[in-house]
Amino acid sequence: VPCDKSELREECEKLLQSLPKAQGWVGSPPLYKYEGNWYYSATLQGVISSQKHFQSQHTDIILATIPKSGTTWLKAIGYSIVNRGRNADGTGDINPLLTNNPHNMVPFLEINLYACKGVPDLSRMPPPRLFATHLPVSKMSAQYACCKVVYLSRNPRDTFTSDWNFTNKLRAVGEEAISIEEAFDMFCNGISAFGPYWDHVLEYWKASSERPGNIMFLKYEDLKNQPHHHFKKMAEFLGYPFSKEEEAKGVVDEMVKLCSFDHLSNLQVNQSMNGKINGVPNSIFFRRGNVGDSKNFLSSGMIDRLDRIVKDQFSPFGLEF
Ligand code: A3P
Repeated sequence: VPCDKSELREECEKLLQSLPKAQGWVGSPPLYKYEGNWYYSATLQGVISSQKHFQSQHTDIILATIPKSGTTWLKAIGYSIVNRGRNADGTGDINPLLTNNPHNMVPFLEINLYACKGVPDLSRMPPPRLFATHLPVSKMSAQYACCKVVYLSRNPRDTFTSDWNFTNKLRAVGEEAISIEEAFDMFCNGISAFGPYWDHVLEYWKASSERPGNIMFLKYEDLKNQPHHHFKKMAEFLGYPFSKEEEAKGVVDEMVKLCSFDHLSNLQVNQSMNGKINGVPNSIFFRRGNVGDSKNFLSSGMIDRLDRIVKDQFSPFGLEF
């Protein structure tokens, strides 16, 4: 169903006029600060509507990230854990992840479901309902009350680098790129979509230790290092643990391979510039998928600055990257 945003823009127009504004990263659209976080105008209505109308059920699963922390990967993993077995029953069904971008399998609350005119009726979605969001936990505390939330974080150096590369690809033809120095300064000052990055990560970190049965905190780097271990932990947390038989049959390893960067990024559907997610070509969600690629983009001065902020912001709470 096409998403009609026309009326929403009008509704939001007044609010936007009153919000603090900063230059955006993608060409001309600015970022707006709403209740402490930065959003593009196209997302704001979905943000407000999700907060107002979304009600979780105890069987719901929410996959949360700040952009460029590995959302696409997390969606593939979450979807695979919950739906495993469905395509292995000899019926010849093809695993949907082989022919669909992971974003097509798990909708965002604020970017897809609540971004359109009206309030969606999600009551007919069969459990477990799988949703994604970039919303900060402080904005969704009540909505998360009775479901399982998995938050995937990523170190700020690589998150920033990934974001800068991504947004540069979204520029309209002829629009000048925002320089890496300029974007970096904004990121360090908290100005990035759904940011400040620091608040976003720290809030989920604290919430996961306060409500460990409700919110799980993962790191992209740990997932890369020990995918088998973390897939199992996530499956247990979600209430879909792997059985001994599954382990012995190599189901976890197969899932790790299926969701890997190399496998997903080489699928025809994800190499296509024609298939699009919210107007963004599927292929753009896959770049390098490495830990530490920021070394190729950031000067040592920039890395020092980020490391200092990490130390100031995260260390007092026992969080390290
Ligand atoms: P890089 O730009 O560093 O390569 P998001 O999914 O939140 O938009 O984040 C995108 C980042 O995750 C990109 O990082 C992308 O390459 C990486 N990514 C996408 N799919 C992945 C996968 N299956 N495994 C690991 N990283 C993945």
